[in-house]
Amino acid sequence: MDLMEKITSLAKRRGFIFQGSEIYGGYQGFWDYGPLGVELKNNIKKEWWKSMVYEREDVVGMDAAIIMNPIVWEKSGHLKAFTDPLVECKVCHKRFKADDETAVKGHGKEHAGKAEWTIPKNFNTLTEVFLGVTEPKDKAYLRGEITQGVFVNFKNVVDSTRVKIPFGIAQIGKAFRNEITPGNFTFRDREFDQMELEYFVRPDEEKSKETFNFWKDVRKKWYVNLGINPDKLRFRDHEPEKKAHYARYATDLEYEAPFGWSEFEGIHHRGDFDLKNHNLKYHDDLTNEEFTPWVIETSGGVDRALLFFLIDSYTEDSSTGSEPRVFLKLNPRLAPYKAAVFPLLKNKPELVDKAREIYFNLKKRFNAAWDDRGNIGKRYFAQDEIGTPWCVTVDFQSLDDQSVTVRDRDTAKQERVAIDKLGEYFQNRLLI
Ligand code: GAP
Repeated sequence: MDLMEKITSLAKRRGFIFQGSEIYGGYQGFWDYGPLGVELKNNIKKEWWKSMVYEREDVVGMDAAIIMNPIVWEKSGHLKAFTDPLVECKVCHKRFKADDETAVKGHGKEHAGKAEWTIPKNFNTLTEVFLGVTEPKDKAYLRGEITQGVFVNFKNVVDSTRVKIPFGIAQIGKAFRNEITPGNFTFRDREFDQMELEYFVRPDEEKSKETFNFWKDVRKKWYVNLGINPDKLRFRDHEPEKKAHYARYATDLEYEAPFGWSEFEGIHHRGDFDLKNHNLKYHDDLTNEEFTPWVIETSGGVDRALLFFLIDSYTEDSSTGSEPRVFLKLNPRLAPYKAAVFPLLKNKPELVDKAREIYFNLKKRFNAAWDDRGNIGKRYFAQDEIGTPWCVTVDFQSLDDQSVTVRDRDTAKQERVAIDKLGEYFQNRLLI
């Protein structure tokens, strides 16, 4: 099995990610997050919000509607320019994204290299929806980027808060794209979550470049601090002819996935493109100037982050036995469960009672798991595979001296910890 097969299989088997509408054969480009997937996803979003909003004084958050007045998409340029180049195979009429070299080449091989392609045409990837009660219904769009909801509320945020330029507005939410070729598991979806910062600055070429570089650096560090191997990260500047219609210049933070270097997050200098199109300006009360701010944007995909965190944390340790020990070396702050609690033996009520008491106490602080099946080795194996950083075992000694063993996922080492110090023990480690 190659790494992607191992990740896909683990993700399904352990309840991280399921194919959307699986019982009806699935639906291309849509995925459902299971009990562990939703925890990991929420933790990624929480960490992002903490670092981008709570730890800063110049950023506020918001949550805009997914469906907006269609005029928004006309003004933002998406109705005209939110396109991908589409080619059709003249032999079997399957359609592909022309710049998806792997898919195009792969398809060529299906026809023994004979595939003939139509000339690329622009395909708009906005998703249409129809609303209202009279026929024909009104056409609207599911947002293709979450960003426009921030721009159209620019004045509302300035008027209702004390923000002063430079400042940012952060948002996390769903975006939808009618992708021509969804694929690589959850890498390219038709429905996905974005986490974005729109940072508004004075129009100034040099200073805005500094801000752009500042955010590049911040965003890379965020992934590295949460455990992504820095050797697998790089920036790739957009070629002028490939950059999005709104960007003055842009760079992608890329991860070296098993399917090649792939975009994780985009950092875009959007200039005054959006605010100008929406006819929105900023009034500086101190200098009495009115101007259209420029925007530096950081735009990451939550689903891609989750996929890359899974891939990057997947570890096989063959040093311990005949079967490799598989564990997800997830940063504890991201791990779905922070700790699992076991009674050494399931049929000893005094051990079970003590373990349940500890379990429910820990659950008041964070998400903890319970396991009393099989032997301890199997329970460790099961928790390692889903990235639980610590396993707590209640044994006979616990009844005498009120201590438990805490076993560490990465080192497999165990130590004794007093039960009344457990909360503090984990708290200290989770803040690291
Ligand atoms: N507001 C700017 C914007 O949307 P983008 O480069 O088109 O920029 C930003 O998208 C991020 O959103 C990407 O880096 C990626 O992480 C995520 N993303 C974009 N399309 C996606 C898709 N089809 N499936 C999953 N994630 C996607």
